[in-house]
Order: sequence, then structure tokens, then C-alpha cells
Amino acid sequence: MSERPIDAKTWAAGILFVGIAVVVGRSLLDGETSTIVRASAERAQPPTDAPAQAVSFPNDAAIPDGPFGDVIRRGEAIFHDTKANAGTFVGNDLNCSNCHIDRGRKADSAPLWAAYVQYPAYRDKNGHVNTFQERLQGCFSYSMNGKAPETGDDVLVALESYAYFLAKGAPTGTEMPGRGYPKLAKPERFDIAAGEEVYAQNCAVCHGGGGAGQKTADGVTVFPPLWGERSYNWGAGMSSIANAAGFIKANMPLGRGNTLTDQQAWDVAAFIDSRERPQDPRFAGSVAETRAKHHDSPFDLYGQTVDGVVLGEASPPSGTVPAPSGP
Ligand code: HEC
Ligand code: HEC
Repeated sequence: MSERPIDAKTWAAGILFVGIAVVVGRSLLDGETSTIVRASAERAQPPTDAPAQAVSFPNDAAIPDGPFGDVIRRGEAIFHDTKANAGTFVGNDLNCSNCHIDRGRKADSAPLWAAYVQYPAYRDKNGHVNTFQERLQGCFSYSMNGKAPETGDDVLVALESYAYFLAKGAPTGTEMPGRGYPKLAKPERFDIAAGEEVYAQNCAVCHGGGGAGQKTADGVTVFPPLWGERSYNWGAGMSSIANAAGFIKANMPLGRGNTLTDQQAWDVAAFIDSRERPQDPRFAGSVAETRAKHHDSPFDLYGQTVDGVVLGEASPPSGTVPAPSGP
């Protein structure tokens, strides 16, 4: 069994090119609710921030009828509107698809089709082999600042089914082009003050001057928060400047990915990740200890002093319940 039926490049180059049109910006600026308009075959158009290769995945029309299809559809709904469909596990104003854009389909936005084929995997973050469900649990505890559903919970089964559906034909155990967020070359330095300028000019119009995002009058989040008590917590992947810089470079400003320079992406990521946010759920009383154990990196500002404040000392409490014992 040394030959694989299909390699990653062939798969990614596309059986059918659907195009990943994230045209959300326009409809959002019209003040509508946070709907992602995903390209269908008829209205396919090149994305404004297209990755180098066209990536294919089945579209919703391919979801089978019957009980399995129903669960896949539920997974997609949870992923896109997490609060409405799995609210007991969510402790902030984010949806999965705010960071995994186009309902987990967009390359360079940690897409589900590329993730699914990479588990089980060993993770340094918790020092053991993680199943795909456990990886999903991590994003609930940290990115969603919530409570991870128990293994086997129907919320996780639905999300797993949706990811499996998107990964159809992708080779197991293969690093797909477009997986994760781009890894930008390490900068000589990053500059929080310069990042604040980048933010004011390119981001505040949507995410708000105070980083709290924007809601409609009836409380629907239209632009997600980037810091503060309704954002991802200090344990989240996005609180590492390297992850945030890669995400921002490829995907922000929304609809105009890859227009910032790498240095601007690093600086603005450092600015965002130098603001207070909910506590790391692994915190057990000492910011210094939590930093030493979980944040010991030059690209992580938790426990560092910025503008005279030790980040983490005045954080609002994390989620509604403690993180699961493992991660
Ligand atoms: C605040 C942003 C954010 C939110 C919200 C978020 N995630 Fe993530 N997610 C990340 C980051 C950062 C990573 C790590 C990416 C990497 O390592 O390249 C990640 C990784 C993942 C991975 C593994 C990707 C891979 O290739 O290994 C999966 C699966 C995942 N998230 C699912 C979810 C689900 C399900 C939700 C909602 C319950 C969610 N995420 C919400 C930021 C987020
Ligand atoms: C046109 C409006 C708009 C602009 C401008 C914009 N964003 Fe966003 N941003 C969004 C929307 C909407 C999402 C959620 C994406 C989705 O759900 O598809 C998002 C998501 C994010 C996220 C992940 C979710 C979260 O809340 O943590 C980060 C981080 C982010 N933006 C940072 C930035 C940065 C930095 C800039 C400036 C360089 C920027 N954005 C400019 C609209 C915008």
C-alpha cells in the first residue's frame, strides 16, 4: 500500500472549481446580519484574496438525503451560527466561521477539509495524541471561551460529520496546501504602537475603535470582537501573535486579504494580542506560572508588561466552566 490513490496537490488543484467567494463584506456593510454568501456553482467568481491554487470541496447540493445528511447540515449550522445552535457551549460572541472563514472552506483560514485528514495527531499544547473531536473541544474551551461538549456529544458528532463531508476524497495523513493559517517569516521585531495605527486605518471601521466588534440593535453580532470580555480567551490559538498575523495577512481586512505587508500584519496582530481578554482557563492563580507553562514564547504577550499593565492580571474570568482536564 505504498501508492496513494490521489495526492494532495491533485486533490487541491480541483475536481471541480467552485471558487471561494467571500463577499460578506459588502452585505455586512449594508448593515445586514452576519451571513456568509458562499459561491454556488452558478455564481462562482474568483475570490478577491484567492490562494495560489483553486481548492475544491463538495458543495451543499452533495449532502446526502437521510439521517446522515441531516447531521452534516446540523454540523454546518453549528459551525456558522454557533451560539444559536450550540449556545450552551459558547462563552463569547464568536462563531467558528469567524476564524475559519466561508464555513470552514477557505484555504489559509484553517479549513476543515484540510484539518480532518490530519487527526489523530500529537499536540504539544496538551502533550498527548488528540482525536479530531478533542481538537474541536479545544476550540470550544479557548477560541469560543466556553465549555467543551463531552466526547461523543451530538454537537461534536455533527461538526465531525460536516468536516468529513468537506474532506471527501482528500488523502488521509497528508498536509493539504492551504491548511491552517500561513506561517509568515519571523520579523526582526514587532511594534505595538505601529500596529495601533494599522488598526485605526484598516480595522476599526468594522471591529470598532475599542475592539469590541459591532452588533445590530437587536443584539446580532455583525463584526466580531477582537479583544475584551466577549472575545477569544488567553488560551486560544489566536492569542499567539504568530497565528493572528498569519490569519490577518491572508484574510483581513475582510475581502481584501493579502493587501497588508507582512510587517503590518505582525504589528497589528501584536496590537490586538496586547489587549486584555478573558483569562486562560488553565490559570490556577499565578499569571507568572501560567506564562511559564503555557505562554513561553516571544510571540505571546500573556504575562508581559504592556503600557504599564501585566497582561493576564486584570483579565475577566474565562468561560462559564473550567476547561476539560486534558487540554
Ligand atoms: C478566535 C478564532 C477561532 C475561533 C472562533 C475558532 N477557532 Fe478553530 N482554530 C483557531 C486557530 C488559531 C487554530 C489553530 C490553527 C493552526 O494551528 O494553524 C484553530 C484550529 C482549529 C482546528 C484544527 C485545524 C487543523 O488544521 O489542525 C479545528 C478542527 C478547529 N479549529 C475547529 C473549530 C471549531 C469547531 C470552532 C467552533 C466551535 C472553532 N474552531 C472556533 C481559531 C479559532
Ligand atoms: C469590512 C469589515 C472588516 C474589516 C475592515 C476588518 N475585518 Fe476582521 N473580520 C470581519 C468579519 C465580518 C469577520 C468574521 C468573518 C466571517 O465570519 O466570515 C472578521 C474576523 C476577524 C478576526 C477573527 C475573529 C475574531 O473576532 O477574533 C480577526 C482576528 C480579525 N477579523 C482581525 C482584523 C484586522 C486585524 C483587521 C484590519 C487589518 C480587520 N479584521 C479588518 C470584518 C472586517
